[in-house]
Amino acid sequence: MTTRKTPLGQQDLLQKAERYIPGAALGMMVLPADLRMVMVRGEGSKVYDAAGKEYLDYMLGSGPLLLGHCRPEVVEAVQREAAMGSTYFALNEPAIRLAEAIVEASPGAEAIRFQTTGSEATFAAVRLARAFTGRDKVLKFEGGWHGGHDLGQLSGAPTKLLPFPESSPDCDGIPHSACLDVLVAPFNDLETTVAIIEKHHREIAAVIVEPLQRALKPESGFLEGLREITRKFGIVFVFDEIVTGFRLAWGGAQERYGVTADLVCYGKVIGGGYSVSAVVGKREILQLADPRQKGHGPYCFLSGTLTANPIACAAGLATLDVLHRPGTYERLRVLGERLTQGLRRAGSQTGVPLQVVGDGPVLQVVFSDAQPLRNHRDFQRADKKKAVAFGHELIRQGVYCTPGGKLYLSLAHSEQDIDRTIEAAATSLRILS
Ligand SMILES: Cc1ncc(COP(=O)(O)O)c(C=O)c1O
Repeated sequence: MTTRKTPLGQQDLLQKAERYIPGAALGMMVLPADLRMVMVRGEGSKVYDAAGKEYLDYMLGSGPLLLGHCRPEVVEAVQREAAMGSTYFALNEPAIRLAEAIVEASPGAEAIRFQTTGSEATFAAVRLARAFTGRDKVLKFEGGWHGGHDLGQLSGAPTKLLPFPESSPDCDGIPHSACLDVLVAPFNDLETTVAIIEKHHREIAAVIVEPLQRALKPESGFLEGLREITRKFGIVFVFDEIVTGFRLAWGGAQERYGVTADLVCYGKVIGGGYSVSAVVGKREILQLADPRQKGHGPYCFLSGTLTANPIACAAGLATLDVLHRPGTYERLRVLGERLTQGLRRAGSQTGVPLQVVGDGPVLQVVFSDAQPLRNHRDFQRADKKKAVAFGHELIRQGVYCTPGGKLYLSLAHSEQDIDRTIEAAATSLRILS
């Protein structure tokens, strides 16, 4: 296997990043000095840094690469589309065909509007819900992550735990007024959530939930209960399926958990590694984004320069085409199960109390023996420092992942990759203990 060496070399690049980019980071992840790298290439289940080191990849670009890196069908679709033009700010064939594919796959969906990132899709869903109901407040779940906008940064990764339903900002720069419009409830606690909704229902436009919250499964009856109470009070029920869409099943979490939302947000997988997202759902709600209504009736602005970019849509279509083949979701489950069991074994063999949570190709190792792990507060009590140290050790062993976060599996991972990962995990746990 050949590895590309950049002319500058990894250390030079890291120094430049340090000089020009605060944190020398593109997102939130900052690694210890000896682990810092600049990625230059991906192939199947692996990525390579500028020093030529190979890593098994469980980051997958933070999730979009469910087929792995450089899947030939996706590369070919992107090259074909890029050779024809990059963007038109006009209807284009890949966008229309992707619209059809997503609406047909998404249970209960009748219409779609595209956006560019996952954050924009959840923002759009909330704006549509507010326009549809004429109400301002949104109920979300503590620890639920919906992106970078104000709503997404309220009680998404809180360190300060306030009494429900108060929200707390995860970062500075969020106006106090934003906090007033966001109610926070505990995931998997239907009783508390229902009590909050019953008290505030006249003001609530939307309930937004990650149906698999981070890697926490919904308990039986939780999503069903949310569906029932939102329907009762005319509240728009939003599934944030940026992670779960086309990943847990062809019909996403709606199919997997048997509950249909009013609006569903898609991102990550639907662009196959390129930037496109969407909000999908009931026509009567999405209709509000019809620009012909501006000045003539209820209207909700949703647009952007790169909305439904044809290259991203072509990549998404090629990705969905592969995912639609028989056996995809069974295979992802088999891989997820193998890794889950292997990590649990590594925990018991090394005497480190850990749990592996998640669903199918989405997993997380939690250092806790407390049962059950139902929500953010249970997660808070786990040993987060150990989880981060474990992640660092995995990266040192050549397994790229978010330290303390989720592991994403792809169709490109092999049984051999997984067994190598389990060995690396056992070594890491031994080193830690
Ligand atoms: C559940 C969920 N919603 C929304 C987002 C935001 O997506 P993006 O980073 O594309 O803006 C993310 C990102 O990880 C996510 O996991």
